[in-house]
Amino acid sequence: MEGKIAIVTGGGRGIGRGHCLELAKQGAKVVVNDFGGSSRGEGRGNAADDTVKLIQERGGEAVANYADVSSLEEAGELIGQAMSAFGGLDILVNNAGIARDAAVWKMTEEDFDRVIAVHVKGSWTTSHHAAKVWRDQAQAKGKSAGRIINTTSGAGLYGNFGQTNYATAKAALVGLTLTLSMELYKYGVTANCISPGGMTRITSSIPGFPPSFETNELPEGTWDRMDPGNSSPIVAWLASDEAQHVTGQVIHNVYDRIAWMKGWHVEKEMFSGEKAWKAEELSALMNGNLFGTRSIGISTAPTK
Ligand SMILES: NC(=O)c1ccc[n+]([C@@H]2O[C@H](COP(=O)([O-])OP(=O)(O)OC[C@H]3O[C@@H](n4cnc5c(N)ncnc54)[C@H](O)[C@@H]3O)[C@@H](O)[C@H]2O)c1
Repeated sequence: MEGKIAIVTGGGRGIGRGHCLELAKQGAKVVVNDFGGSSRGEGRGNAADDTVKLIQERGGEAVANYADVSSLEEAGELIGQAMSAFGGLDILVNNAGIARDAAVWKMTEEDFDRVIAVHVKGSWTTSHHAAKVWRDQAQAKGKSAGRIINTTSGAGLYGNFGQTNYATAKAALVGLTLTLSMELYKYGVTANCISPGGMTRITSSIPGFPPSFETNELPEGTWDRMDPGNSSPIVAWLASDEAQHVTGQVIHNVYDRIAWMKGWHVEKEMFSGEKAWKAEELSALMNGNLFGTRSIGISTAPTK
């Protein structure tokens, strides 16, 4: 990774900080982006500076950027800063995120829109600008070798109670990744998703989770397991030349487990024989042929 130039969005704390430190440790120059707001995405601050300081103290190179990635204009300035500060861009890690949990009947329109804006639009804006840079480079010089690593979550892969906004956003990131991988591979650019785990202020806001890591009340031995930097070596590997052949994939990691995730598949199918289906014939066939029974619990939803 020596000499590569990386952007990590939401790199001021939590999982994003872990990615910044790991990429810098592996020799990359890092643009640490963070708009520095609360876990709900309110206010702004200078969290990016803390990560930059840590990287510099460890002998690495980094600069801070305070863009709100949900703004196309600010995302453009972020990509521009990588070009002006370090002279290029090799790696884009879209990690910035917020949470505004509530059951669907209580969730406000603003809380839905803002979560989608930060996660989904905020990964599209940066990818849009980075893709232009890499496509231009590939057209001028033959090939480029860009890397996009998006951040999904168990909520997006399986659903999660109280997170219609967040789970929708995280599922959308898989669709974004699959499509980016198709559109950009011919330019040498890969796009993959990491589904990380780690105790951060986002997880400490989820009801039923252990107390905040900030209160230092985690049970003995929990920290290693929940260290927000645990998935960062996998991000570094995906960002490296070693992973040129890996694109459009989702990797789930918590602590010592790496799982290669695969999505929708055809469980069973039936054909009507060269004609469209009629509603009247479906009841028996759907229950009998597809689901196998009328009483199947098709929903996987918990009962809480
Ligand atoms: N913590 C987990 O267990 C877990 C699990 C799965 C996925 N994730 C995902 O990992 C990512 C990082 O989350 P975290 O747990 O480290 O939370 P965190 O709150 O500690 O870090 C998120 C960072 O993103 C920044 N950010 C938020 N909105 C931004 C914006 N519009 N522009 C720029 N920066 C912005 C925040 O200021 C914050 O520093 C998120 O995408 C989250 O959804 C986390």
